[in-house]
Amino acid sequence: MEGMIVAPSLLSADFADVAGGLALMERSGADWAHLDVMDGRFVPNLTFGPKMVADIRPRTKLPLDVHLMTESPESLVEDFAKAGADYLTFHLEASVHAHRLVQRIRGLGAKPGISIVPSTPVSALEELLPLVDLVLVMTVNPGFGGQSLIPACLDKARRLARLREERGLGFLLSLDGGINESTLDAAAATGAEVLVMGSAFFGAKDPAAAVRAARAAAARAAESRA
Ligand code: DX5
Ligand code: ZN
Repeated sequence: MEGMIVAPSLLSADFADVAGGLALMERSGADWAHLDVMDGRFVPNLTFGPKMVADIRPRTKLPLDVHLMTESPESLVEDFAKAGADYLTFHLEASVHAHRLVQRIRGLGAKPGISIVPSTPVSALEELLPLVDLVLVMTVNPGFGGQSLIPACLDKARRLARLREERGLGFLLSLDGGINESTLDAAAATGAEVLVMGSAFFGAKDPAAAVRAARAAAARAAESRA
């Protein structure tokens, strides 16, 4: 199992200064850049498309953690894989043939991830768990940064961590939405090893301290498990 991976979300950065946002992530010791793609249909907000990811790719050494919050992800994955997505995650709720899409993403050379919104049960993921590299549990309803974490979603993460252990699976478990100083310990205690942070990173006076706080929460969680 890897240590805690901190993935600041570009969504909360200044979109007129994306390069500055990426540089801040690197300077602050973040591990991945989380890129939220929204289509104004699956979620009521719009962000950016594959060109942004392609333009970002040569600007940072950080792995690109692309989170598609779109309808018809099957029509987009090729462009995002070619653009340089390392992890390419789509929503189970947006794809009937998620099993096929996971394999297609892998065939395109990216690491496939699957995400579920707060109303989707863990059981809906069961058949996919052995096939994906990342499971991204939304801890808010997707669409916007700066919302409050929904505590019941942490129970889902705990169940996924347990299932992973029972079945000897290797996917990374990521939590996305409302992760901040006051929820870090509860989030880390679920067994997740990726924490996405939007407003808590870009809104922080000291973003490097926000990254350190996430790692400290992970260390406390690991200690209390031992
Ligand atoms: C929400 C996005 C998140 C968002 C999280 O729909 O998927 O990645 O940036 O923002 P915070 O951390 O502010 O809740
Ligand atoms: Zn996200």
